[in-house]
Amino acid sequence: MSEKLAINGGTPVRSIPMPPNYPGATSMGKEEEKEVLEVLASQTLFRYYGPQNPLMKVKQFETDTAKRLGAKNCVAVTSGTASLIVALHAAGIGPGDKVIVPACTFIATPGSVVAVGAVPVFCDIDESMTMDPDKIKDCIDPDVKAIIPVAILGYPCKMDRIMEEAKKYNLLVIEDIAQSMGSSYQGKACGTFGDLGCFSLQINKILSSGEGGCVVTNDDKLYERAVRYHDQGMFREKEGFLNVNEEADIFLGADYRMSELSGAVACAQIKKLDSIIEKMLKNMRMIQEGIKDIEGIQFATENDPAGVCGNSLIMFFPTVEKKKAFCAAMEAEGTPLSALYNSEPIYMVPQLMQKRVSNKTGFPFNQFDEEIVYTPDMCPTATDLMARHAWVAIGPEHTEQECKDYIAAFHKVAKEIL
Ligand SMILES: Cc1ncc(COP(=O)(O)O)c(C=O)c1O
Repeated sequence: MSEKLAINGGTPVRSIPMPPNYPGATSMGKEEEKEVLEVLASQTLFRYYGPQNPLMKVKQFETDTAKRLGAKNCVAVTSGTASLIVALHAAGIGPGDKVIVPACTFIATPGSVVAVGAVPVFCDIDESMTMDPDKIKDCIDPDVKAIIPVAILGYPCKMDRIMEEAKKYNLLVIEDIAQSMGSSYQGKACGTFGDLGCFSLQINKILSSGEGGCVVTNDDKLYERAVRYHDQGMFREKEGFLNVNEEADIFLGADYRMSELSGAVACAQIKKLDSIIEKMLKNMRMIQEGIKDIEGIQFATENDPAGVCGNSLIMFFPTVEKKKAFCAAMEAEGTPLSALYNSEPIYMVPQLMQKRVSNKTGFPFNQFDEEIVYTPDMCPTATDLMARHAWVAIGPEHTEQECKDYIAAFHKVAKEIL
């Protein structure tokens, strides 16, 4: 005997809203407050100098992040988008180049490629919602110089296969780990497989300083170039005033420097990464276990179950209609599901599909002999999976009762809809 669904006038599973989904932000507390107040008291909010000697909070964040991820170098920047732009510049990617990105990612991934004057080529995904390594070969042409695999919502990419393909086609690898800080693949932190790894500290992310990000790399030369680019392309003798040094690898850059205020928050947050992931994973596994026998729900493949962050549980429904009906019913039960990017490959946004750029010429899309054409059907698996997917947003502060409510709602709705 099934219960009347809330969407049909029945009693909802929950009447109190689920906690908001901001893992890093909702984990903020006294630790962040202390660090920020120290910086304010020092009046020195710039990382390199000021009225007093800087407290080096940004530097501390860089050191701790490199250590936690097992990377040799880390440079903090102003956002995840900035991290991609800085990494691309460090790698020397720009006009004349194409860069492979997955069809399932946030607009910032292809947007950063365009921002440096290169053109994104979209690669299809597989049932892990990440780039399908077997489809990389379909994206290759002589202008393709780099690839940006994206660990989506805490799910790692199949990095051994991606690295194999990258080697085969001589591609630079820039990992976009904006949504998945702390994820790993076969015991190694995501972001440390390729040439450069990019992270975000924006408000939705696993760690947050409101805005912020960082680039990690094991390559000293790329690190030097990333530091240079993010700091006006100039050279600092040590930490401090700008210099020009003919000997150094100098070139024009921009300002993507993190402020000491963000650094203060970030250096308190990085210490919490493991505890945030542990709590989210516990919740994710509980919900997953509780709904695994529901026929009609298929979980996204975990390329490495030991390496997921637990900030989401991604699933597919049998049809688009069932997914829509299921999501509407879950919303009414007070246990909402989310869906990525309008449930479509990211290239469907008009900015990409119609190649809309801020300049008058149409650059960078007009720079190759052949016309760059994006079509809705160019990544069929992404089109299919994104239309049928939904995900449970999981935070470290979800209580056991909240997880149980999700499980109860899934079963209640499944009886009627699946
Ligand atoms: C996959 C991915 N890449 C890059 C970014 C950009 O990060 P930010 O918002 O910090 O610029 C995001 C942010 O949502 C993202 O999800």
